[in-house]
Amino acid sequence: MIGFDRDVDALGKTRQRLQAYNQQLRLVHDSYANFDLHLGEAEKGKIDFALLDLGLSSDQLEHSNRGFAHQASHDALDLRFDNTSGQPLAAKLRQVSIDELTIILREFGEVDRPRRIAQAIIAAADAGQLTTVGDLVSVVTPLLKREKTKQGLSQIWQALRIWVNDELEQLQNVLPKIVEYLRVDGVLAVISFHSLEDRAVKQFFVAQENPCICPPRVPVCVCGRVPQLKRITRKAIMPGEAEISKNQRSRSARLRAAAKLGTS
Ligand SMILES: C[S@@+](CC[C@H](N)C(=O)[O-])C[C@H]1O[C@@H](n2cnc3c(N)ncnc32)[C@H](O)[C@@H]1O
Repeated sequence: MIGFDRDVDALGKTRQRLQAYNQQLRLVHDSYANFDLHLGEAEKGKIDFALLDLGLSSDQLEHSNRGFAHQASHDALDLRFDNTSGQPLAAKLRQVSIDELTIILREFGEVDRPRRIAQAIIAAADAGQLTTVGDLVSVVTPLLKREKTKQGLSQIWQALRIWVNDELEQLQNVLPKIVEYLRVDGVLAVISFHSLEDRAVKQFFVAQENPCICPPRVPVCVCGRVPQLKRITRKAIMPGEAEISKNQRSRSARLRAAAKLGTS
């Protein structure tokens, strides 16, 4: 078994938790998007099972001090899963344009009035007034509808976290690579936590199951694209009430899985 996490602390905890499996386990500090660099060509077509458990963990939200929770007002504005590389949010906000930030807020967070919010954030960043979570909360809160403040903050945080960690692009890049590495009947499963990720996974699975791009008027397929995956879940599997009552954060989880097609 080989596991990837961009967060060194998360890997340390996983190493302890899975101590009993030490001999069979390899843990790698890297993005899952680079998994192939750690496996090599010889593993192509050999992987039995790949699981992507996306997003952030409760531990990161509660204990990392990296600004993942908008309630943690003293945290620095970092938001990186891997705080050993790349730039923290505060530095990125000093470089981004209003147009770019507007698109980020709209596309990754479905934030209401994204341009006004982007303008306010950039004005504060330019004035050197954005270093902590509390600073950002005070800048954006007056622009949110009062009855929807918490939801608005969550949407802004989601958008900024996706941007800082390049989450959607990494997901879109890794899915086809995993298919290459799966053995026939091997399974790819993805747990996602918001609709943008879930949509990307669903669209990928559907496209791999029906890859033909011939126009409908062509009687037989001439594009030559063959299905690579068969969906095991037609609809996403969601947590039941018992799981949600034990773990409130599981309520937004969506699990989809598909198996590799072909002859072995
Ligand atoms: C929902 S948690 C998974 C928790 C894990 N399954 C466990 O039981 O501890 C998501 C984890 O994915 C990591 N992560 C997010 N994006 C990643 C990426 N592109 N590559 C590797 N790890 C990533 C985060 O750092 C976080 O620890």
